[in-house]
Amino acid sequence: MKYYWGWLVAIVGFVILAGTWAQTPKTEVIHPAVGNGYGRVYPWVYPDDPLLPFDTEREMVIRGHELMDDTDRTIGPKAEDPGMRFAGNNLSCSSCHINAGRKPYGLGLVGVSKRYPQFSARIDRQQTLQGRINGCMRRSMNGKPLPENSRQMKELVAYMTWISRDVKTGDVAGDRLPKIPMLDRAANPEFGRMVYNQHCSGCHGLNGEGQINQEDPKGGYYYPPLWGSDSYNTGAGMHRIIILAEFIRKNMPPDNPHLSVEQAFDAAAFIESQHRPIEPDVVDDYPDRALKPVDISYPPYADKFSVQQHTYGPFGPILQAREKKKNR
Ligand code: HEC
Ligand code: HEC
Repeated sequence: MKYYWGWLVAIVGFVILAGTWAQTPKTEVIHPAVGNGYGRVYPWVYPDDPLLPFDTEREMVIRGHELMDDTDRTIGPKAEDPGMRFAGNNLSCSSCHINAGRKPYGLGLVGVSKRYPQFSARIDRQQTLQGRINGCMRRSMNGKPLPENSRQMKELVAYMTWISRDVKTGDVAGDRLPKIPMLDRAANPEFGRMVYNQHCSGCHGLNGEGQINQEDPKGGYYYPPLWGSDSYNTGAGMHRIIILAEFIRKNMPPDNPHLSVEQAFDAAAFIESQHRPIEPDVVDDYPDRALKPVDISYPPYADKFSVQQHTYGPFGPILQAREKKKNR
């Protein structure tokens, strides 16, 4: 009788352990904690927590991850149900939030659920995480907002909450993008064309059109487009030259980011000078004009600098004028 129980416990134990092991995603240590003065320091680990219950929460996290990676076919133009086509282009959230927001300095989203609600200068009031996601749906994805009570919105939030679970505050080393110094000249689209042709066009195409994955029956992008009708619109964060240059400098090309600050700004200027969908709804942006970022390419502005200078720089004089005004 004693032996019988021992075997039973061993077998049941093995089955439970094996099941847990098979279903648990592997720990993915993405980046060791680094002290770099940029926010607080927390390790970048992809939560692999046996405590994540095998229930709807886990399902939601996994589906949220899928929405980040396969936005086009889940809530974009390739969704089977026409009623689910909220995103207007075929980018994925992960085209910009690299590795679904888990790459440090790649528009990282670890910690994001703890940063919201927060004040948004663009709308001049508190914004929820759902509201911020819809900012990207409208502008980066050139589409319509996801209803806040939709299953998909809840899944995106569940995913972001999950990857943020191991950090104590929203301030994480490696979140968002690292700052770069400003040029003391305007960024130059013509120089940028040369940088682009040499370092970027091999993947993103000579006309910024990206490349379709030939093995994907649904024709998703292998390399996402950078301009044209299937890209982000003029109201998007990526359409701000400082953000784009910071992104490029740290993240592009993906395996070997190596451009100088000047090259990154010029390449960004070239990309900005190309055509893309126009965001119609910008007149109400930044009601407090003093809080409008210097690199927003659409007027009105609180200062007398031209649209040209707000688009390509140099930004030093604009920043100095702001400082003076503040100190008066
Ligand atoms: C074309 C690039 C691009 C795409 C595609 C994109 N985003 Fe973003 N997203 C950005 C940029 C740039 C910012 C930061 C803007 C800033 O710093 O003001 C941002 C910010 C965010 C933030 C706030 C981050 C923070 O730290 O405050 C969230 C949340 C977010 N995006 C979610 C999404 C989701 C979900 C999708 C897909 C539905 C998506 N984004 C698609 C570029 C993109
Ligand atoms: C080896 C191929 C490759 C090269 C070369 C490359 N990229 Fe990318 N790029 C990618 C991939 C893949 C992504 C999607 C994010 C990811 O998975 O890393 C991307 C995303 C982007 C994005 C954000 C998504 C979008 O569609 O707007 C921008 C902007 C970008 N790249 C700019 C550049 C610039 C500028 C260069 C040249 C300095 C460059 N890339 C070189 C492969 C490449």
